[in-house]
Amino acid sequence: MIPLFKPFMPETVLEPLAKTLLSGWIGEGPRVREFEAALAQRLGVAVEQVVTVNSGTSSLQLALRLAKVGPGDEVISTAMTCAATNEPIVLAGARIRWADIDPLTGNISASSIASAITDKTKAIMIVHWGGYPCDLQAINEIAASRAAPAKTITDIAIASHGSTPAATAAAPVIMPNGMLPRMPGAWSRKPAR
Ligand SMILES: Cc1ncc(COP(=O)(O)O)c(C=O)c1O
Repeated sequence: MIPLFKPFMPETVLEPLAKTLLSGWIGEGPRVREFEAALAQRLGVAVEQVVTVNSGTSSLQLALRLAKVGPGDEVISTAMTCAATNEPIVLAGARIRWADIDPLTGNISASSIASAITDKTKAIMIVHWGGYPCDLQAINEIAASRAAPAKTITDIAIASHGSTPAATAAAPVIMPNGMLPRMPGAWSRKPAR
């Protein structure tokens, strides 16, 4: 078998992992708060703007809910991804409109999104294929061009240096996969602990 990707896992994770597993906190505990604080610092956002969840799928479901995607809506997406990117769209009751990819990068193509967008488009799902950033600026411009702007939902945003909060701050963008920087005006979590 020829592996396409191999996640890097430093051996230094083993000790803190063992400590956590043996600490008695096997649900959401202090280590999650520590992780969220460290992630917020790394991303340059306030800690209240970062929420970690149990899986990428959960974060996409949440992001779609925050974008108020439901039956009768359309979401533009790419087939060049894990099935888990698109299953939450179907679960939300929306229709997927497929956009093509850029053959050079594997990323969803902005011009194909421009052809697929309709008045029913509630969100655009993008994936930074292999960590190579999509053309967020062009995509956000297309999303914002509607009378009712579509939300850009970025699956695995953190995998790409091109999708930092600075790049996404200009448009209503949700960045799932473990974190949900706040969508302006839509939702926020009070610092709980
Ligand atoms: C691109 C992409 N999106 C979403 C997911 C879903 O993540 P999870 O398995 O944590 O639910 C995956 C999982 O591999 C993925 O590769």
